[in-house]
Amino acid sequence: KELSVLAISGSLRKHSSNTALMNAMIGLAPSRMDWKIYQGLGDLPHFNPDDDHGDGPVEVRELRAHIQAADAVLICTPEYANGVPGVLKNALDWLVSTTVFLQKPTAVISASPTPMGGDKAHASLLLTLGMINAAVVEGGTLIIPHITMKMDKNGAITDEQLRADLSSVLQALERACR
Ligand code: FNR
Repeated sequence: KELSVLAISGSLRKHSSNTALMNAMIGLAPSRMDWKIYQGLGDLPHFNPDDDHGDGPVEVRELRAHIQAADAVLICTPEYANGVPGVLKNALDWLVSTTVFLQKPTAVISASPTPMGGDKAHASLLLTLGMINAAVVEGGTLIIPHITMKMDKNGAITDEQLRADLSSVLQALERACR
């Protein structure tokens, strides 16, 4: 059976290194992984518990349906001001009242041009994913420092070690789904 994987980039930026990374991973992935890219982060309403009843806003319903339907989730995110980008945290806040992430095999990657690789956003994201009971996969997390030195202007990965590390994350994600 094919595995459906939902990919989410925490960056809205057109030339985002994290979005490029996400796309590169889709290119590296085994063909039995069937990918969907979630594009709705920037269109979600601001989380407001007052609006979190019934099915909620249509954009939220779509987000939840995409995650529910996926066998696994990949998140690639930058770090802003030592934390998770607001748009990504906002999306996750809309999921706290649901079980869509429950035991969902999830891979988590952060990338940054700095030597720290977005480690604080990465750690914070893991805490939030823990709150919604995502199954963050063993071997499925990666903190990538100096990202701008590891890809070319078109977002293609030029660093062999990074390519190997990304493949290993994909393998771990696939293993966790079996
Ligand atoms: C950043 N950046 C950044 N990087 C980091 O490692 N830790 C941080 O706390 C921050 N904070 C931060 C705040 C703001 C307002 C901006 C604009 C940037 C740098 C960030 O990693 C860099 O812009 C990346 O290129 C963003 O990821 P994408 O968009 O390339 O995926």
